[in-house]
Amino acid sequence: MDADHDRHVKKAKKARATSEKASRQALPLRQRQRLIDASITALHLYGPTGTTVARVVAIAKLSPGIVRFYFRSKAAMLVAALQFLATEFEERVVTPVVALREHPALALQRLVELYLDPEIASPRKVAVWYAFWGEASARQEYLAICGQKDANFAALVHDLIDRMIVSSGRRHLDSEAVALGLIGVLEMLWQGFAFEDEVNIDRALARRRCMAYLRSVFPREFSALEGGAGAVTRGMQDNPDEERDRVFRGAWQFAGHDQDVPGSGDFASLDLVATRVLVVRDAAGTVRAFRNACRGLPHALVTARRGHFADGRIACTVHGLSYGLDGRALPPREGAGLLELDVHRSRGLIFVRSPAAARRWPEPDLAGVDDAGDCVPVPDSAEWSMTVAADWKIVMRTLLDARSPDTSTSAGRWRFLWPNLLVKQGPGVLSIVQVLPAGPGCSCVQQFEYEALAADSQVRVQNDRARGLSRTQLERELAFTASTQQGETDPDYRADSSVTPSPAASDFLRMLLDAEY
Ligand code: FES
Repeated sequence: MDADHDRHVKKAKKARATSEKASRQALPLRQRQRLIDASITALHLYGPTGTTVARVVAIAKLSPGIVRFYFRSKAAMLVAALQFLATEFEERVVTPVVALREHPALALQRLVELYLDPEIASPRKVAVWYAFWGEASARQEYLAICGQKDANFAALVHDLIDRMIVSSGRRHLDSEAVALGLIGVLEMLWQGFAFEDEVNIDRALARRRCMAYLRSVFPREFSALEGGAGAVTRGMQDNPDEERDRVFRGAWQFAGHDQDVPGSGDFASLDLVATRVLVVRDAAGTVRAFRNACRGLPHALVTARRGHFADGRIACTVHGLSYGLDGRALPPREGAGLLELDVHRSRGLIFVRSPAAARRWPEPDLAGVDDAGDCVPVPDSAEWSMTVAADWKIVMRTLLDARSPDTSTSAGRWRFLWPNLLVKQGPGVLSIVQVLPAGPGCSCVQQFEYEALAADSQVRVQNDRARGLSRTQLERELAFTASTQQGETDPDYRADSSVTPSPAASDFLRMLLDAEY
């Protein structure tokens, strides 16, 4: 017992000593980085000539003597600061773009985003680059670092433009001139940033200007990327399994409303992307979600849209397996229960997600939507779904364009929830449209509605009428998406570069690109 105790004490002492040693070793690195950060701030405020050791240590809140410990001279400290910026630029701009080299249009789009990113192109950092350029002719070290960074960047842009020319077949273009043009646009924007406060910088506008330049040179490629779902759609259509994993597996999918399962034993079932979902309110009143599949064979355990498990059992009639409302096998057997899904509830809505997803998307943002707890689902007969001969991404883009999610009307405001959901709260009614991929070039569109319990008969009649109208509108939009899908196959079609998607559709397309890479 004593020997055990001694061993334990020795081990704890050793662990403490190791941790103290690591902390001591990390201290110089932390202090050096503080001096570098302070140098960048001082360079921004006073320029290279006005930056003194006294000013740097004052900003870093360190003693003046400490500089000598880490740097031979003020010049060495400033070179280290510039080197830090160059390394950051290399790691956060050049490397991710190089990784996309095989997809030059995507790579250039990412390059523009990263080059203008507020972390890289903050007024503080940009001002430092330009301050050093002013001194570059005087100091060889500065020239070497600035020059190397610019040479690497120019070579990368040149390479991507070369690839664009080859893939687009526009061999008459002069790649060096086009690359110089893009670098010039980016440089001009950086110069503007250097003399502005962050609050006055319109980064979205800056990005649009760069993309407009690229679109003017490669209209088809960048119109498709920026203005149409075409390039994105085509790129991902070929591999629906991969798309399901990247986009849907880790995304929250709408699976129902609290009022679909108001009491213990109530259930609602719904088919989602590659998953049938069974939402159940268990004996303790907790809302749970399972894959709606028996563990014997993966057929649907429950086929009714809504219902109630009267005896607290979820039974499969094929071989007699049964499960409790908590999903456990009855009688209990380890590892034999229903496969459970993650559940997220917000404003009365129930969302589910695979617990095994490698990438997890954020929770749906329903800020501004009232808690729709006091409402009831419209009868099953009033729910609606339709199969459409169009890829789900074309459907989403069309709906986002047509329904102006960013503007409010008296009928409410549509909001987009990544990746495939539109939610609108109108007077006395909550409407949800969910778009599910059903195969290459094919989607299933579902529409759900929940009506306020307090709605009087007049409001209900109005809602019925509005439902009919909105369904007619939706059907028209879906016919349009099928026609768009068909048009996508025309190899000679050219998009008009002046037509741009709505901001919500642009966000959707950008998130798709983000999901793909
Ligand atoms: S398939 Fe359900 S019990 Fe066999």
